[in-house]
Amino acid sequence: MKKLTYTDMIAHLGISSAHPGGSALTKNMFATETILPEMKILDIGCGTGQTSAYLAKKYKAEIIAIDAHSTMIAKAKKRFEKADLDIKVIKANAEKLPFTDEIFDYIIAESVIVFTNLTLSLPEWARVLKKSGKLLSIEMTAEDVLTNEEKKEIFDVYGVKKILLEEEWKEHFLKAGFSKVIIEKDNEQSKQQVIADKNDPSSYIDPKLFEILQAHTDLLQKFQGRLGYRIYRCIK
Ligand SMILES: C[S@@+](CC[C@H](N)C(=O)[O-])C[C@H]1O[C@@H](n2cnc3c(N)ncnc32)[C@H](O)[C@@H]1O
Repeated sequence: MKKLTYTDMIAHLGISSAHPGGSALTKNMFATETILPEMKILDIGCGTGQTSAYLAKKYKAEIIAIDAHSTMIAKAKKRFEKADLDIKVIKANAEKLPFTDEIFDYIIAESVIVFTNLTLSLPEWARVLKKSGKLLSIEMTAEDVLTNEEKKEIFDVYGVKKILLEEEWKEHFLKAGFSKVIIEKDNEQSKQQVIADKNDPSSYIDPKLFEILQAHTDLLQKFQGRLGYRIYRCIK
């Protein structure tokens, strides 16, 4: 049987805004952007779709939401239907996007890049963004150098592929085709604990998923002050 993952836990417990800072940070991040109704926004790794729904309601822009996980896709669709939102949802891989070049004004990716092979995903994202388009990303960021043993502990719980320092992130964005990277640290670090805004649990919850949730909580505690996050605003 397939081993259950951190992403399965979020999907089946139906956790919304499953990224550091939660929906409060998402709203703050967009508050300083100019989002117009004629804009096209791609939500990569949309999860259960809370951010897409927020953007569609608040800015009336065209939103396309993608994710690789079937349960996330099903829950996002359900959310949009219930709210009568015209958001296109596509099951797709962030490393190989089913879109032509330079069509999006914005890409939003909240706690997604770390789960992908970023040497594949980031150039793809730059490819589909219009010239001067922007990637807004909230990503796990090491506050200081972690040992290989510590990294392995984090990889094992989250199934992430990399843990980078702020400067390393910047290098990857620039190498992938972005011309400018603006990095912000959330001053209210307590929000790091926020992972749930609203739940839409699956009809059957494997008890092992609660062990993964506990491992996540323990890890946040253990690495408090050493494993943080940043907002990366990357301009093409
Ligand atoms: C931590 S969750 C965050 C979900 C959502 N952005 C949020 O803030 O609630 C990471 C999401 O990225 C998706 N994901 C991971 N790797 C992906 C890939 N290669 N292609 C598409 N989606 C991916 C997962 O399925 C999951 O929904």
